[in-house]
Formats: sequence, C-alpha cells, structure tokens
Amino acid sequence: MSRVKSALRVGVVMGSESDRAVMDEAVKVLADFGVGCELAVRSAHRAPEAAAAWARGARARGVRVIIAAAGGAAHLAGAMAAHSRLPVLGVPLASSPLGGFDALLSTVQMPPGVPVGTLGVGAWGARNAAFLALRILAVSDSPLARRLEAHAERMASGAKA
Ligand code: RP5
Repeated sequence: MSRVKSALRVGVVMGSESDRAVMDEAVKVLADFGVGCELAVRSAHRAPEAAAAWARGARARGVRVIIAAAGGAAHLAGAMAAHSRLPVLGVPLASSPLGGFDALLSTVQMPPGVPVGTLGVGAWGARNAAFLALRILAVSDSPLARRLEAHAERMASGAKA
C-alpha cells in the first residue's frame, strides 16, 4: 500500500514498554494508510500525573483519536477518557496471569458520559483500534475514506487485513 505523509492525528499510548510489540501492530496499520501517529508510554497507576498531562495536551498536539492499551487492572483508557474529550479506543492486553480478561473488564465497563470504545484483546484489538481510528477520521476525510474502501475491496478479494 502506498504511504501518504500526513500530520499527527492519532495518539497511541500504552501502560508499559512491555506493551510496545503488540501496539506496533496498530502503528503499522496507521502507517499503511498514511496517518501520522505519536507513540507514548504513560502508566495510569505508576505515573498518573504524566498520563493525565499527556491526555490533556493531546488535542493541542494535533491528536484527534486516542488509542490506549494496557494489561492487568487496565485503567489507562479510562484515565484518557477522564482527561480528554477526544474519542478514546481501549485495547486490553494479555499481560497478566489472567490472560487479558482482567484488562478487558477493566477497560470496557465505563460509567455513562465517559466512553471508551473497547476493542478485542491483544494484537487483533490493536489492529482493529487502528482501523476504527481510521474510520473515525475518514468521516471528514474523503481521500482516507477512499483508501479504506479500496482496502475493503482487497479483503473481499481474499487479501488479509
Ligand atoms: C500494565 O501492566 C502495562 O500496561 C503492562 O501491560 C503490564 C505490565 O507492565 P510492566 O510490569 O511490564 O511494566 O500496567
């Protein structure tokens, strides 16, 4: 797929360096569609002030959608939604002995008014968070919408996502 250079529009934040390999899956999807992203490590538990500051500054940095990934008692996506009014997509990760079910439940059941759009666990969720971010951006970006349409046609012809 052709890569189109473009400004920062997605912020990908994760709870630990140990989450990076999985979240690179999201970064790859965004890069394939020419959508700029920033990648950050901020822990909602171990560095809550830094996590909040990252969320509060996101819109001013050009971020339009936040993807937040964490494992275990995963409160990072919720913290992002508490500190920013941008759309937040949560990716639960399978980091603990509970295999990601803990992170899924910690991410998904947000109180009304503070939404986190929760994706699947692990690499599938990471990739789909990127695809969902692209769909959100494509609502007001026709060239990106056309690239997503072409991608859907390639999948219909048997190509992997
Ligand atoms: C979570 O705990 C992180 O998101 C990571 O998935 C998990 C383990 O973190 P480390 O102990 O590897 O830093 O907060």
